Amino acid sequence: MTVTEMKNRLKGVLNPKRFKHSIGVMEEAKRLAEHYQIDVKKAVIAGLLHDCAKYVEADEAISMLLRYGEQPDEIQRISFQLHHGLLGYYIAREQYDVTDGDILQAIYWHTTGKAGMTPLEKIIFIADYTEPNRAFNGLDEIRKTAYFDLDLCVQLCADSTIRHELSKGRLLHPLTIETRNDMILRRLGARA
Ligand SMILES: [Fe+2]
Ligand SMILES: [Fe+2]
Repeated sequence: MTVTEMKNRLKGVLNPKRFKHSIGVMEEAKRLAEHYQIDVKKAVIAGLLHDCAKYVEADEAISMLLRYGEQPDEIQRISFQLHHGLLGYYIAREQYDVTDGDILQAIYWHTTGKAGMTPLEKIIFIADYTEPNRAFNGLDEIRKTAYFDLDLCVQLCADSTIRHELSKGRLLHPLTIETRNDMILRRLGARA
């Protein structure tokens, strides 16, 4: 499937705001990939499709994940925000003919991140926050950091999510904390 065909299919299932966001993430992921000399085609497809499961209703998403052999944890089961990345892996593979494991993994991990992310996973995680349609406190600093320190930028994105979830009194997913700690431990030289 070509990128244009992917865009057309995605446009048919996502609401206009989510589709615009997806294009924004695709464009920002492309810029970051060029800057860091990461495979641009993979970044474009992963950015475009990262939210491709966002149209699936929460209950249906959980039953689909179980059918695919996933075991969403108790926090992922409650929060739609957290399980659409997992489901996106399967929808990208089955409805958009994506076979590349790097792209699929970047979609899978985009909501929480994880310890030991690849550069492609990091730029999709970051572009989701920094794409041009986004606006929130602290975003200017995050945007600037994206172009000189990927790890620090991932940490700032995780910080921002953690602060936001705390301010709303919501659950935190342990992977968000792991992502943040991983970036700090690497910077301190405590992890290779
Ligand atoms: Fe997402
Ligand atoms: Fe997104």
